[in-house]
Amino acid sequence: MIAIGSDHGGYELKERIANYLIKKGMTVEDFGCFSSETSVDYPDYGLAVAEAVAGGKYEFGIIVCGTGIGISIAANKVPGIRAALCTDCYMARMSREHNNANILALGGRVIGEGLALEIVETWLNAKFAGERHQIRLDKITGIEEKYLK
Ligand code: RB5
Repeated sequence: MIAIGSDHGGYELKERIANYLIKKGMTVEDFGCFSSETSVDYPDYGLAVAEAVAGGKYEFGIIVCGTGIGISIAANKVPGIRAALCTDCYMARMSREHNNANILALGGRVIGEGLALEIVETWLNAKFAGERHQIRLDKITGIEEKYLK
């Protein structure tokens, strides 16, 4: 199951990605927003998707704002979330293989639909490589724990 969300700047791309995934037979839950007409705040949608993924009900999340920057910063504040802002397929593959990213962030005003869908496909098909990379992720968890105290 994939949780998806965007602000108004990412709305159009979020809709296209959701339709693409649904056509592939995947289950997608849309956490909004539901229009590009009204200006909304990206932290609200980054938080909603991040909490959905961190809660364990959704394996992955996809978040979109204008640049992908603000919504990924917001999502990464939720413990256990590793949101990766990707602008090409190499970053998408590496963010899964090395960083075990559980949320993909995209910029709706940065990349076009064709590249975005290739990034989504690459990201969903890549697998975490574990081993030395797990040691580094454990250190990231250690940073979270230090500041959660
Ligand atoms: C909204 O105008 C824009 O600031 C937002 O979509 C995003 O790019 C923020 O990082």
